[in-house]
Amino acid sequence: MTAVVVAGSFNVDHVWRCDTLPAGGATIAGRYSTGPGGKGFNQAVAAGRAGASTTFVCALGDDAGGALARQLAGADGLSLVAEASAEPTGTAGIYVDARGRNSIVIGAGANASLSIPFVTANQSLVGSAKVLLAQLESPIETIEAALELARQNGVTTVLNAAPANAPSTISLLKLADVLTPNETEFAALLSRHVGERIEADDVAALDGATLHELCRKLSGNTVVVTLGAVGVFVSHAPERLRGDSSAYYRVAAETVQAVDTTGAGDAFNGALAASLATVADVPFAQHVRFANRYAARSTENEGAALAMPRFTPADAV
Ligand code: RIB
Ligand code: NA
Repeated sequence: MTAVVVAGSFNVDHVWRCDTLPAGGATIAGRYSTGPGGKGFNQAVAAGRAGASTTFVCALGDDAGGALARQLAGADGLSLVAEASAEPTGTAGIYVDARGRNSIVIGAGANASLSIPFVTANQSLVGSAKVLLAQLESPIETIEAALELARQNGVTTVLNAAPANAPSTISLLKLADVLTPNETEFAALLSRHVGERIEADDVAALDGATLHELCRKLSGNTVVVTLGAVGVFVSHAPERLRGDSSAYYRVAAETVQAVDTTGAGDAFNGALAASLATVADVPFAQHVRFANRYAARSTENEGAALAMPRFTPADAV
């Protein structure tokens, strides 16, 4: 049985490591590497390596990228449920600077053809999972259908509203038991859906009560805002504290020597889903602390999916 189903994207990442990110019009030198990525795949690998039996639902092209996805999923012990697409497998061009920060361009390719009928055909798989985890690199209506299906079957839904410029609707956000934007995505959602204008850079400095109030405007359910080096902010609906003693709180970041933050958010989401799916009857804060530690460790390795560490909630206590 699958504990976690991840519905989302697979990309072949093309990565250039440079001292500084290239400015417009500039030509600079970098060290090239390639490897598997895509928010969906990264999160699925993280969930699996964090100890949950995991199925990855995606769309792949009939090409080398698609073959790579199948091979790596097999090597990682993931079940792969892939819709065949006539488009090329997804790609991403990524620049990473000396401080581990990145800029990313995505070619959605096959990811754009993940369809509602395909998700519906996998209804029993989605409906029997403990947690469904999704992102916004796939068509929004397909993600909405997957979340709805999960909800109807009492499956816990986690939505990572990434990337920040992806379209979203408030009805989509409402389908998430747990919504997990980073500060940039949080600012984008606030501006798009509730007309609150806050700079992403200012989010972390807001006091807890204000952050909580903003989270409540976005969702009737739990919101977890990941704040990079500042840690994580958690906000619950007052009537649904998930075993926590306060409706909102912060979890501090772990100290690490980050070499590559690509996929750190994905590490967090995959580990959170794995912990929610495999560890029963603990306060929500314990799941968040595990995910926080897991994500921190992932930044110590170069790469996205292949940088996911192997440790489970049981190893972490
Ligand atoms: O979150 C990181 C991921 O974003 C990369 O692996 C890239 O493929 C893009 O999807
Ligand atoms: Na990394």
